Amino acid sequence: MSTTSRIIVTDLPWLQKYRPATFNDIVGNEHSINILKNVAKKGNIPNFLLSGPPGTGKTSSIVCLANELYGKELAKRAILELNASDERSVSVIRDKVKVFAQTKVTLPPGLQKFVILDEVDSMVDPAQKALRAIMEQYSDTTRFALACNNEDKIDEAIMSRITKLSFTNLSQEEVALRLLYIIKQENVKYTPEGLQAIIFTADGDMRQAINNLQSTYSGFGMIDEDNVYKVCDVPDPKYIMEMLKRCIRYEVKNVFNAVVKLYGEGYSALDIVQTMMKLMKSASENEIEEDYYNDFLMEIAKTELVIKSGTDSELQVIGLIGSLCDIAKSISKRKNH
Ligand SMILES: Nc1ncnc2c1ncn2[C@@H]1O[C@H](COP(=O)(O)OP(=O)(O)OP(=O)(O)O)[C@@H](O)[C@H]1O
Ligand SMILES: [Mg+2]
Repeated sequence: MSTTSRIIVTDLPWLQKYRPATFNDIVGNEHSINILKNVAKKGNIPNFLLSGPPGTGKTSSIVCLANELYGKELAKRAILELNASDERSVSVIRDKVKVFAQTKVTLPPGLQKFVILDEVDSMVDPAQKALRAIMEQYSDTTRFALACNNEDKIDEAIMSRITKLSFTNLSQEEVALRLLYIIKQENVKYTPEGLQAIIFTADGDMRQAINNLQSTYSGFGMIDEDNVYKVCDVPDPKYIMEMLKRCIRYEVKNVFNAVVKLYGEGYSALDIVQTMMKLMKSASENEIEEDYYNDFLMEIAKTELVIKSGTDSELQVIGLIGSLCDIAKSISKRKNH
């Protein structure tokens, strides 16, 4: 059968179809979710800042809180949601957020109007200051849920007036739980290795996991390891792990050839180094012995940082494997003395 004839047309994007509607649909970050569940029970929302990596459920959990507190009809009048696609200049904050805060809406006792604002860390300083002023001025009638990936970029005065909820990357088990639910609903054929490959490439980001699941299913009709790595366009981690093991045996030439091969296949330095980093996170003692682990981790992390700050070149990876082989050689010398 040709690949084209296997293409499966699915209706709604699964990200949309499986967007959590209630807290029961959310996996992970239990501490923060429990706080939100409590607020949902008692009402009286504080101002929130949800911070943490992408695709971990920050926006989803705020939307679940809003669903529980307001219900569909009330939500239309009582909630203002600005998401990443809305402009966030000072004038937009004043025109939209301030105007909404000033608008009179009749609500049941104990409920306030609610503003949901994503990606506050990408808002320029004056816009954050304008937001803070509005939060203060209308604190009796309007509550705010702000979300960000990097809380260091949030105005200190906002931070000090807000209840912070931290989100972390989801564990492999948590991602698996939600994926298996979707797999069951959609009747998706999969192998355990294929599922593991999706979890590996997503690295704790559920948005990416669901996207990759749907892309692989639409493209191939079957979730197995090969199909996942083709769709996700990342180097096969088994191959990269083999490279790391060869570094431990300081087979420089061999690993050098492996890098050239990966480059020839179109993978970038970042693809290779990020896969190494993900492997280090889940590596067992059998794969990377403890003696090597810390030094390897440090070198790989340093290279990832340099590449991310702008120099994505094959030479970065070649330099990295040179350093890893050097490190391995001196460790093994030490061990043999
Ligand atoms: N913890 C989770 N449980 C279940 N599904 C999740 C979870 N986190 C994310 N998802 C899925 O991924 C999609 C994106 O999640 P969400 O918008 O909540 O992420 P986020 O943390 O706000 O990310 P960003 O920082 O990019 O705004 C959701 O529609 C949902 O399908
Ligand atoms: Mg979000």
